[in-house]
Amino acid sequence: MNEQYLLDLDMRRIPSLAPDVVVIGSGITAISAALAAAENASVLLVTKSSLKESNTFYAQGGVAAALAPGDSPENHLKDTLVAGAGLCDEDSVRKLVTLGPARVKELIDWGTPFDRESKEKLAFTLEGGHGHRRILHANGDATGQAIETRLAQMIHEHPNISVLENHFAVDLLHMDGVCYGMIALDVKGGRFLKIEAKATVLATGGLGQVYRETTNPDVTTGDGMAAAFRAGATVQDMEFVQFHPTVLYLAGAKRFLVSEAVRGEGAHLLNQKGERFMTRYDERGDLAPRDVVSRAIYSEMRSTGATNVYLSLAHLSPKMIQERFPTILKTLRQYGLDLTKDKIPVRPACHYMMGGVRTDLEARTDVQRLFAAGEVASCGIHGANRLASNSLLDGLVFGHEAGRQALKLAECSQPTFPDKRVRPMRNKETIPLDVDDVRASLKSLVSRSAGILRDLETMTNALQMLDFWQNYVYAEEFQSVKGLELQNMLACAQLIVRGALKREESRGAHQRSDFPNTDDANWKKHVTFKRSEFERGA
Ligand code: SIN
Repeated sequence: MNEQYLLDLDMRRIPSLAPDVVVIGSGITAISAALAAAENASVLLVTKSSLKESNTFYAQGGVAAALAPGDSPENHLKDTLVAGAGLCDEDSVRKLVTLGPARVKELIDWGTPFDRESKEKLAFTLEGGHGHRRILHANGDATGQAIETRLAQMIHEHPNISVLENHFAVDLLHMDGVCYGMIALDVKGGRFLKIEAKATVLATGGLGQVYRETTNPDVTTGDGMAAAFRAGATVQDMEFVQFHPTVLYLAGAKRFLVSEAVRGEGAHLLNQKGERFMTRYDERGDLAPRDVVSRAIYSEMRSTGATNVYLSLAHLSPKMIQERFPTILKTLRQYGLDLTKDKIPVRPACHYMMGGVRTDLEARTDVQRLFAAGEVASCGIHGANRLASNSLLDGLVFGHEAGRQALKLAECSQPTFPDKRVRPMRNKETIPLDVDDVRASLKSLVSRSAGILRDLETMTNALQMLDFWQNYVYAEEFQSVKGLELQNMLACAQLIVRGALKREESRGAHQRSDFPNTDDANWKKHVTFKRSEFERGA
């Protein structure tokens, strides 16, 4: 079987659109790609929700760039490589840190209101793993919202860019290793649409919803990673899932991120006994890279039998807290907590996928005419653990690159999709299936088996269960977004657990109790998967 699709659609019968470039996604990466490609091509931006609904919009901490006096791209490179625990691709990181400052300056020129110490001087904060204050922020802790709002405005004003909101990317249109665009489902109207393009950019973000507790919005169901995998692209490093150390833990409350910048400004982590514990785990204390802090919190919770630890800012200036963290302050107040005085209950939750669709320095995947960038992609900049606030920069630099490369293709002639009916080899019988129930079970299973600490037995059992669910979940031809998302979540869950089982060592965000050491001799390499390998029985 060369082609795999979720639905058996008659391609000749569904309405079609034909922009030069189709960009799938809505965050900073998608918008950067669309703006770059639109310089000389017609661009269609397709998102399953609204432009506002992305991880970018909720980003608090900021964007890291070597722009502060005394800092340099070389320093930023060094910190990124250290956090990445030996698995970063140095050329990719070098590209990120050297092109990053210019991309951020462009954002400033476009009117993004980054916070300043004075008219001439930008304000920088610190986060875990950074040896320099280099994180720019906007409106205190609403950085993503400020960036996304300005960029969305530019998208809407651009004459070469059209936006299709509420259109779910069911699949990439692909045949024999070439991508010809995508198939979309109009979420409100229930119609399918074929979008044929000279180049396709995948910027769909991450998969946080695969875990029970996550900082990510509801839309992050790994659709892009799963679709690219079905289309034949290589995915890599799926075992490297980052857990953010400080996520609000209150019964009934949303798992709301309490930015690492809070610790950057001096907040302390305390255990149940009110003790500062981080220096027992790492000399960098509260500002160690986040994989180290998450593991320390996990271990502290286990040894004290507690469900959480605390963040305390009571020793810091209330005025500084009010100015720097207005969003966090306001959110916590809804639950009767005062960020300036109270201990805030927190614990780690899934935050970011370091792995994804393998890409090169030009954001190319190994499917022709398909580019990927941002969280859906893996070009080696994050290694085994992403350095805080490098993700918005990733979106800016590699989103732009993907758009530029897509534009080059768009300036050549249009290949036509071989107009064949797609026939996936699946059982067409429908069964009564409670999609919400499977989704909830999947989230619990992945959290238990591929969380902060992993082992062979738990993961083997989890994979058996996931493979069993596959038998009937993939057999369905869902016409609902919830069902299609479930299929994507299941595909991603299988890839995460398979990757975590395969990597018999501990490194960065991947920690195994049965292989507690880092094993450079055998594992200083990527774990990759390709659909064709599974079909050959690998
Ligand atoms: C945070 O504000 O702590 C999150 C920033 C990031 O994930 O890079």
